[in-house]
Amino acid sequence: MFRCLNLLLFCFISYSGTPPVGTTPVSVTEKKGGNVTLTCESEAREISVVELNRLSENILVCEKEECKSENDRVFKEGSCDVVIKDLIYSDAGKYTLNVFYNNDQTEVKRLTLKYHLHIHDAISVKKGEDLKLDVLLINADKVERNSSEGWTEVWMRGHGVNSDRLTVSDETLIINEFTVTDTGTYRVLDYEGETLITVSVTESGSGSKGKLDTEDNTHNEQLTAVYWFWGVGLPVILLVVVGVIVFVVIKKPKCLNRLYSPPTDQNTKEPDL
Ligand SMILES: *[C@@H]1O[C@H](CO)[C@@H](O)[C@H](O)[C@H]1NC(C)=O
Ligand SMILES: *[C@@H]1O[C@H](CO)[C@@H](O)[C@H](O)[C@H]1NC(C)=O
Repeated sequence: MFRCLNLLLFCFISYSGTPPVGTTPVSVTEKKGGNVTLTCESEAREISVVELNRLSENILVCEKEECKSENDRVFKEGSCDVVIKDLIYSDAGKYTLNVFYNNDQTEVKRLTLKYHLHIHDAISVKKGEDLKLDVLLINADKVERNSSEGWTEVWMRGHGVNSDRLTVSDETLIINEFTVTDTGTYRVLDYEGETLITVSVTESGSGSKGKLDTEDNTHNEQLTAVYWFWGVGLPVILLVVVGVIVFVVIKKPKCLNRLYSPPTDQNTKEPDL
């Protein structure tokens, strides 16, 4: 009886010390190249160790951002937050953060937090080029693309690719000779069906070319305007000005007479009257 109680008590203590195994991970989403913070929000004082695990491997967490280690993209911030900066596709997935602390007690306690990191990206590809997506991570199970029919499978571990325009090389999925029909959203799922990576793929060729064309056009229009002004407009204006001057100079007497004679006549006549 005592033994049983002891066992129950033991179970209770270990249960309260570590959270339930099925704790749902906190979802965090950040774009490729960005920085993400795995927040621990612990009120605990005297945190002794912060330990980050992933795929049952321990990731070295630097104490400060400037820390020079082989893995200087991961560092501690504040009391126990962990920052992963300059995110790459392969950072996507599940993380476990163990925070060891003691609150003025001799017993060291552990706080376990779980995260699921989703990375998104947007890329544009020129028509005819090969699109290389290094997304076939060790924890990736399938790659899907959404179309008008919904999500369709593009690659699956153990089954490979579903089109002869696709090839796989190491961890890279290659879409050969990209065409407009390859555009869309690609997502990489893990074994539990959770999204690891989302990549929105657009075609850059036509878009940027069109933009260049319009830029060229406006430039050309400006050039044409300049040509018309200097080549035609200005000479015409000059010609008109010269013509007016010549006309005024040559016809000066008559013009002046016509313009000024009535008043002069009046002036000369007035005294006569
Ligand atoms: C990520 O963090 C580093 C250093 O803290 C900073 O220089 C960089 O600009 C950040 N990147 C983004 C995308 O915010
Ligand atoms: C694909 O998914 C994206 C984002 O979920 C959505 O904006 C887009 O309309 C979808 N495309 C198709 C063809 O369903």
